[in-house]
Amino acid sequence: MKLLVTGGAGFVGSNFIRYWLREHPSDRIANVDRLTYAGNLRNLEGLPDRHELVCQDISDPTVETYMEGVDAVVHFAAESHVDRSIDSSEVFLQTNVIGTQRLLEAARRKRVSRFVHVSTDEVYGALGDSGEFSEDTPLRPNSPYAASKAGADLLARSYFKTYDFPVIITRACNNYGPYQHPEKLIPLMTTNALEGLPLPVYGKGAQIREWIHVTDHCRALEAVVQRGRPGEIYNIGTGCRLSNLAIVQMILQLLEKPASLIQFVTDRPGHDFRYALDSSKARRELQWEPQIQLETGLQQTIRWYRENRSWIEAVKGPSYQQYYSRMYQNRGKDLSSN
Ligand code: NAD
Ligand code: DAU
Repeated sequence: MKLLVTGGAGFVGSNFIRYWLREHPSDRIANVDRLTYAGNLRNLEGLPDRHELVCQDISDPTVETYMEGVDAVVHFAAESHVDRSIDSSEVFLQTNVIGTQRLLEAARRKRVSRFVHVSTDEVYGALGDSGEFSEDTPLRPNSPYAASKAGADLLARSYFKTYDFPVIITRACNNYGPYQHPEKLIPLMTTNALEGLPLPVYGKGAQIREWIHVTDHCRALEAVVQRGRPGEIYNIGTGCRLSNLAIVQMILQLLEKPASLIQFVTDRPGHDFRYALDSSKARRELQWEPQIQLETGLQQTIRWYRENRSWIEAVKGPSYQQYYSRMYQNRGKDLSSN
């Protein structure tokens, strides 16, 4: 089988490529990635020759050439960070909406027989203290990132309805694991704690996220490529839901670092309170089950960051430091009692 993966130099995409090539020893993958700040060649180190990196924007019309002989497209490429989308949203529309449309069109022209659009639970918006998102929950995205992903989901749906093009949409909860950029909660808190830096928890840390180990997400995507039904949407979650403060406390405990490193800072504007996915459809129809418990997965992840200091140092170079100062230096301190 030949896959075309987009965004394979990022966090989930690189884990997916590693997973797929290990599990499918005769398959080949073309990886179309523009190598933005989030794309990292070091995430691809050690991959066999059956992986080919095509350093290109997904919006580039020549992407169609790489669809030749491809059995399935798995589309990860995106601008993925909510805080960056609040800071400046245009590139989110360019990549997540226009880029997805161009890719869908290229794949349709080349009659690719399966297109997996990797989306997110954030398209549903936010929950209060109770309830879960099902695949039928209306889309009510709250951040520019979530709105751009919802736009992409609607385009993907339209290609199925209008052209009968075999698109499948997946919506996963928060992933964690190796190779995740330290702009995201778990690697940011882990690497800051390892360096003895403050851990900036937004608001009171009461927001709740559902967590999945990236390998469990990759297994679910494998099941979607193999058994997913065109035109369907699959939520991919674990039911493992924790407040941000609880996860930060777990990280500190595992690293044997003091709670005094926690610093409560100004909240994210429009911060979604709670995500919770009903993933029963994926379990039932794809015969998929998550296998990695949070505590075990978090221990392994923290060990990976501990053992890969040079990866962290390279990612946390001057442009990351600039980003970090811009995002965090004026956030204020100790707002936990507000
Ligand atoms: P990431 O930011 O780590 O990686 C994104 C990758 O896409 C990078 O390699 C980047 O270079 C590439 N890219 C960006 N714009 C591009 C363009 N215009 N052309 C080609 N390549 C481009 O993201 P991630 O966390 O790995 O997320 C991957 C996908 O999974 C996204 O679509 C995201 O919405 C979705 N998702 C992520 C999570 C999560 O928790 N990380 C959860 C649910 C869904
Ligand atoms: O739910 C799936 C989504 O999960 C994906 O679609 C996104 O691509 C991915 O980035 C992630 O979005 P979140 O906004 O949930 O992830 P993030 O790691 O940015 O934040 C997780 C929670 O932690 C969120 O409630 C905000 C909070 N947070 C985050 C950072 C970076 C903090 O308290 N402090 C921080 O410094």
